[in-house]
Amino acid sequence: MRNLISYLMFVFFVVFLFGAAYSLNTGNPDGKDIFIEKKCTMCHSVETAGIECKKKDAVDLSKTGDTYDAGFISKYLTREEKIADKQHKVTLKSSDEELKVLSDWLGSLKSKENGQ
Ligand code: HEC
Repeated sequence: MRNLISYLMFVFFVVFLFGAAYSLNTGNPDGKDIFIEKKCTMCHSVETAGIECKKKDAVDLSKTGDTYDAGFISKYLTREEKIADKQHKVTLKSSDEELKVLSDWLGSLKSKENGQ
């Protein structure tokens, strides 16, 4: 029993370390995490963040911030705003906090700032 607890603690510790290292690497991890968690990756790549979508007609969002700011993106994702007269394919279901972090991240994806 003792061994099992030690083992579990060890596993948690390793997971925690990986999480921490990962956060440091990406600079702005939370938005990316949410992006992956919400399955945006089914239809979108973000090549500059190492996200590659298998779909042939995937829309790459690496430069979304060049065109749209976080405020607009959050409205677009909740279908309050349209792009070229079209609503987004899916309505994002998330907490306000998640929506904000995700939109801020997408809004920060600008061509000039890549590679920081
Ligand atoms: C079912 C496929 C699908 C999913 C899932 C999806 N999208 Fe999209 N998204 C699209 C398509 C297609 C477009 C291009 C506009 C259009 O044709 O409606 C788009 C456009 C966008 C745009 C605007 C890009 C631009 O420059 O015009 C953003 C930002 C975006 N999506 C973010 C997201 C986020 C964040 C998620 C996850 C919550 C997500 N998308 C999930 C299909 C999808």
